[in-house]
Formats: sequence, C-alpha cells, structure tokens
Amino acid sequence: DTVTHDRTYVAAIDQGTTSTRAMIFDHSGQVVASEQLEHRQIFPRAGWVEHDPMEIWRNTRRVAGAVLAASELQPHQVVACGITNQRETTIVWDRTTGLPVYNAIVWQDTRTDELCEYFAGDAGVDRYKSRTGLPLASYFAGPKIRWILDNVDGARERAQRGELCFGTVDSWLAWNMTGGVDGGQHITDVTNASRTMLMDLRTLAWDEQICAEVGIPMSMLPQIRSSSEVIGPLRAAGSFADVPLAGILGDQQAATFGQACLEPGDAKNTYGTGNFLLLNTGTEPVFSDHGLLTTVCYRLGDQPARYALEGSIAVTGSLVQWLRDNLGLIPTAADVETLAAQADDNGGVYFVPAFSGLFAPRWRPDARGVIVGLTRFADKRHLARSVLEASAYQTREVIEAMQADSGVALTTLKVDGGMVVNDLLMQFQSDILGVPVVRPVVNETTALGAAYAAGLAVGFWESTDDIRANWAEGGRWSPAMASGERERLYAGWNRAVIHSFDLA
Ligand code: G3P
Repeated sequence: DTVTHDRTYVAAIDQGTTSTRAMIFDHSGQVVASEQLEHRQIFPRAGWVEHDPMEIWRNTRRVAGAVLAASELQPHQVVACGITNQRETTIVWDRTTGLPVYNAIVWQDTRTDELCEYFAGDAGVDRYKSRTGLPLASYFAGPKIRWILDNVDGARERAQRGELCFGTVDSWLAWNMTGGVDGGQHITDVTNASRTMLMDLRTLAWDEQICAEVGIPMSMLPQIRSSSEVIGPLRAAGSFADVPLAGILGDQQAATFGQACLEPGDAKNTYGTGNFLLLNTGTEPVFSDHGLLTTVCYRLGDQPARYALEGSIAVTGSLVQWLRDNLGLIPTAADVETLAAQADDNGGVYFVPAFSGLFAPRWRPDARGVIVGLTRFADKRHLARSVLEASAYQTREVIEAMQADSGVALTTLKVDGGMVVNDLLMQFQSDILGVPVVRPVVNETTALGAAYAAGLAVGFWESTDDIRANWAEGGRWSPAMASGERERLYAGWNRAVIHSFDLA
C-alpha cells in the first residue's frame, strides 16, 4: 500500500545472548518487520561461555538484509539505524585484519572469578565501586579483557603495539558496520562503557588508573559516545548501506528507554536469558547499599547522562532452555508453561539456578545451582514449576533491595521480554510481589529503545514526549494470593538459596 510505503521508518539491530534480530519500526513504535537468527552457545568447560564473533557479525548482516526484504521497503525509507546488544560480552580483534584473537567471552562466563579476587585484594570487592558503580565480579568486561591478554599467545604485545581493539558487542558491530578494516569507527556508547568496570561514572571517560591496575592498554579502548547521536553511514550491514548509525544502548538500558522509563522512579523488569530490573534515578548516580549496580541509563547527545540502579539476575529464561536442552524435559521453551500448569503448586521443590554464581543482590561467585525439597512425590511438573518460580523469587529479591536503597515502595512492575507471554509466570510474579504486573502493547522494547535513540538523533522523533505518547498498556496481572501463602513460599526460597553457597 502506497500510504505506508511513502512513509519513513527506523531500524534496530538487537544482538542478544542467544540470537540476533533486526527490526523496523514506524513512527508510532509499531513493529513493521522482524527477522531473527540464533547463534551457537559454546561451553568449552564448566563455567565458561563463549560466542563466535564472526558468526554474530554474519548473522547481523543476514537479519539486516532479510528484514528489509520482509518489510518491502526501499533502503532510503529507513532513515536511521540503532544498535542494542548483550552487554559485558568481550571481544578483542586485530584492527588490520578484522579478525578476533579469541572467541567472545560472554557475560555469564565465570573464568575470571580468581582474577577478580586478586584485584579485590585487601581493599575488597567494592574497590572500584565509588568510581564505576560496580563490584569486582566476573560479570564485567574489564577482567575478561585481562584474561585474553594473559592467555592468548602474543596478545599483550600486540595490544601494547596498538594493533588490537577491545569492544563489547556494540563496538564490534559498529566497527564492522561502518567499514571494518576500511575505516570502521572504533566506538561504544556510555551505557555499554559503564559495564566494563573501566569507566568513571561521573566523568564518563575511561579511568586511567583502573585501566593501569587491571592491565589494559588505553589504545585498545573504543571512543565513548552518547547513546543518541549520528555516528556515520553504514557501509556493510545487509542492505542498510548509507543509512546513518545514530543510536547505541546496552540492551537493558534500551528496554528501559523503550518502556518510557524516563523519569526518576520509573522502573522495568526484562525477562530474557537473565532478568534485569532497572530504576531510572535521574541525573545523579545513586550508589547501592544492597547489592545493586549503578549504571548509565542513557545519554541523549550533549544532554546530561541519566543514571539507573540495576538488579541483574544471571539465570531466568536460560534455565528454561537448560530444562529443554540439558534435561530434554520439554520439546520447546514454551512447553514449560503447559507442564508447570499440570501441578497445583511446586510440591515443595525449589530450583536455585546459580549457574554463574549468584548476581544481584547477593553477589556470591561461590554459589552453584541446586534443586532442593525433593520427595518421592515430586516429578517433572514440579520441576517445571520450580524453574518458573525461580524467576519470580529472584525478581522479588532485587525489588526488595531496590526498595531498601531508594526508600520508595513499588506500586506496579512494568515488564517485557520473551517470558512475559508466560501467563503462569506473570500471575505468579504478581502474587509473589503483591503488586500488579503490566506489560506494554509492543513487547519488543529492547529493539524499540535503540530505534528511539537513533530516530531522536535524526529528528524522526522530536522528543522523548513521543516515546511517552507511544507507550500503551497491553496486559495486566493482579495479585490473587493470600499474603500468608506468599510469605510461606518466599521463606522456602530463602532457605533453598543458602544451599547453593560454597559449592564452587
Ligand atoms: O548484562 C547482560 C544482558 O545485557 C543480557 O541480556 O537479553 O541478551 O539476556 P539478554
């Protein structure tokens, strides 16, 4: 139809932990077309998780090409492109050949646990917290870069000679998409940089002292840009040639932006491979006393940066995949709901999925997964239920930490991500929190947030008021559980968690 095709659109690449998507949005924030490809999860040994950076780049080009074809738009109708990405995942590549020196070390990977302990030394895990907002943990990129420099033959020397680039996935894609070895731009945005443990949250610049202490040559580091500004034309991304790259945000910050959490006090919870709850705290960083991270929420061009408190949970959706792939109990991830619904309750079974240790609010690198409360009565239905319930209990822990830090009680929880199609989980989440849970009409908030950032930079959207105006409620679950039952279940979870400690 000519009316639609006369109009212009914004594209976004969402490079996540398990798949890469390309999406095209219209001015009202509706999805016009979407394409997705999964990539390989590489587990070389217990605790290690890697991706192939070349596969990720190949998939990015493919979905970018496919989405344009699916949309039936002409390239010139796409006026800007944004990138959003799995954060912390670390890639080091040669700037002359464009080849990675090692696989991408994924955010879930725990190989740097001992390095982090070493850096913490007598100062403790909060050594860099007042500058970076982060505790020393294997989650963040800085120690992963150090591991590559220590363990890949010749990498340190090449880095010192200025031959190597470091990047989180946004950098890797931006460099390749803007030309790669032919003048690709080595950049990142403030939100991704805030996940390296190498950036000062207040100056928004690399902290030379931390880089020196962690042993990272500054020449490897990308230039830090805002989340919304014109970077330059795309040279090699499917058929988005010459479309301006104009927005970059880490995926959780992008979802926060896409959910219109634009005022201090606004929060969202994304149910992906992990869960990530972000609370906008405005233009000043707020530091947590209860195990939350302080991070950059977004920065639009020259405007002051907005900060967020974040509760990061490593394993939620990926536990469902584990049930499918490692135990073979369900044929597809969606079947977890059908199986779980066959049981009236969890039958006393709790699953603590501490596969990467425990992240927020506990930060226990020594934790490993446990299933407790088994009896002869328990079967796969209860296990499926315990898998879903684990996401809800972990979310409650993070929300309690957030309330303790901010002194503000949550009245509703905005949610998004793959698992919000699971009614049983959403109802249980509302029950275990005792507050309503609401989702937007457009659940693709991550890609949408990156599209908003890119579209704002080129004037496709005029201001963040357009984002507010586009947000609409698409579903709501209200608490229906008696408070005695709620607290009994949560107490059971808290007893179960203790059994996961000291196992690594
Ligand atoms: O910090 C990790 C996070 O960015 C990963 O998000 O959606 O790929 O699981 P996701």
